[in-house]
Amino acid sequence: MEREDIIKSLNKDLESVKNKNDLAQVKANYLGKNGIVTNLSLKMKEIPNEEKKEYGKFLNEIKVSVTEKLENCASSIEQQELEEKLNKEKIDITLPSRRKMKGSIHPMTRVVEELEDLFVSMGYDVVSGPEIDTDLNCFTKLNLPEGHPARDSQDTFYLDKDYLLRPHTSPAQVRTMEANVNKEPLRIVCPGKVYRRDDDATHSHQFMQFEGLVVGEDISLADLKGTLELFAKKLLGEKTKVRFRPSYFPFTEPSCEVDVSCFKCGGKGCSLCKQTGWIEVLGAGVVHPNVLKMSGYDPEKYTGFAFGPGIDRFAMFKYGITDIRQIYTNDIRFLEQFDRKDVD
Ligand code: PHE
Repeated sequence: MEREDIIKSLNKDLESVKNKNDLAQVKANYLGKNGIVTNLSLKMKEIPNEEKKEYGKFLNEIKVSVTEKLENCASSIEQQELEEKLNKEKIDITLPSRRKMKGSIHPMTRVVEELEDLFVSMGYDVVSGPEIDTDLNCFTKLNLPEGHPARDSQDTFYLDKDYLLRPHTSPAQVRTMEANVNKEPLRIVCPGKVYRRDDDATHSHQFMQFEGLVVGEDISLADLKGTLELFAKKLLGEKTKVRFRPSYFPFTEPSCEVDVSCFKCGGKGCSLCKQTGWIEVLGAGVVHPNVLKMSGYDPEKYTGFAFGPGIDRFAMFKYGITDIRQIYTNDIRFLEQFDRKDVD
């Protein structure tokens, strides 16, 4: 084959080369063991001596041209592959980034945590109890004998005759005393959901209470008063005034109801406090001897106090919530208002 013919056929072969594999094949066809150029070199020994010089020159030129063409083709394939790769991996840096959404702590949880911190700092333990409890723990052992009006099934969700959705957190008193008989001092708080048949803008069938119980020797009404004053001032502000009114609960004697100066108007009178300047926040009292006795404590030796605020109202006040039901419906638009943070 003449030099021109070889180059022509090489050019033609290279036209159909699409990738490195194709190129390797073409290279083998020309420079490989049985390749066209290799075979021409092998012919050297058949060439008469006087023509060898000329033939050598011819061979050399062919080799140089073929190698050059193959190298050019290799570098253009490399270039092409690089471009394809870059195109594939192209990042559009002008696209806006995706926002990472960060959740927030529910206003009710915040109030519970704030109260827990306060009581833990005073040496209390935080306990929890089941939301389904027995008639025995919720009523009988709290000195509400059968037939007592507060057991009225219109207020309480009974599941059957023995089990119910607890209508208050006071069964935590019974459970804690029974589990720690004669341990003193006993100081616990129990936050938790409670259930009653009630449902309007200021009452929900489900709400939160925060039971407190202290039992020991020489625990008196004065200790209760001091504790609740501190509680109100820490949670609602130092200027808060606290008022104790005599009341009745079957499980405490004496019993009281506690009012705080209205957190909306500061005591001047407004729609929230119905112009009285006061808001009732909790029931409390000195633990009834019968309750101590039924849970295994000797009422001759031990005394105690208990209190049970509903704490939804605190969250409503602190976070400007006007309908208590919003606290429980988990509407994301409502929850997002509380300190949602976008992290970019
Ligand atoms: N359990 C009472 C209620 O739900 C509140 C209370 C608790 C009263 C502890 C006295 C002592 O209304």
